[in-house]
Amino acid sequence: MYKQLQQRGMNSPPVNVSTIRQMKNEGEPIACLTAYDASFAQLVDMAGVDLVLVGDSLGMVIQGQETTVPVTVDDVVYHTQIVSRGLSRTFVVSDLPFMSYATPEQALDNAVRLMQEGGAKMVKLEGGRGQVAVVECLARHDIPVCAHVGLKPQSVHKIGGFKVQGRDNEAAKQMTEDAIALEEAGADLMLLECVPNEVGLKISESIGLPIIGIGAGPNVDGQILVLYDMLGITQGRTPKFVKNFLEDSESILDALQTYVSSVKNRDYPAKEHCFS
Ligand code: KIV
Repeated sequence: MYKQLQQRGMNSPPVNVSTIRQMKNEGEPIACLTAYDASFAQLVDMAGVDLVLVGDSLGMVIQGQETTVPVTVDDVVYHTQIVSRGLSRTFVVSDLPFMSYATPEQALDNAVRLMQEGGAKMVKLEGGRGQVAVVECLARHDIPVCAHVGLKPQSVHKIGGFKVQGRDNEAAKQMTEDAIALEEAGADLMLLECVPNEVGLKISESIGLPIIGIGAGPNVDGQILVLYDMLGITQGRTPKFVKNFLEDSESILDALQTYVSSVKNRDYPAKEHCFS
């Protein structure tokens, strides 16, 4: 078994939690994307993407839903299975969908499904201090956790739309305290969505975890985009932070490679992709 793993990783060892931590420590930006099937997963892996998220955004970009709320654990398990088959180096993280982690016990059962049936190596959940007991429970069972703060799309009906978060001082302070609480609870990674640049900087200065941003500016440790957005497949209004990398590329693989190098060189996100 170990020989097989070693052979597979001879040229390019699979990314794991330690690699991600090391990238942060060495100041190498972490390039991340979402993926939902084996063919795209293979291209994303070939392009040198470090981390792939099987996001519940699949509800919107694959299923045509208006929000991520209808996505089920079965949906994420299925998409994680097919994404995992396309990967060799890239680390795979899967979303715990809406209401699949309302209690620590439920979170544990569903995280086990994503890992055992799907092949996920880390699970992601949305929330702040209210999720501390859930994160502690998963961490106690050695399940790697990515905590998602800032704009939390599963809360869209509570917050009244997909809006930039942390714009006033009190909201930014609460968000920073949430991030600290989640790190203390045992999270391994943080995803920060749709916040002004200064909030990204403040949270980066307040916690030691690697932070992956989406619309969170340049002051974080890595970037993620929804694959279909950065390839220009998504129709309608695209968020300010999205850049279409296919526009000036010759192929999808070329666009993915340009995205990776733009993140690594810190060319993306540029000023026009950031919130102030
Ligand atoms: O589900 C998803 O795709 C996400 C994005 C914010 C990356 O969580």
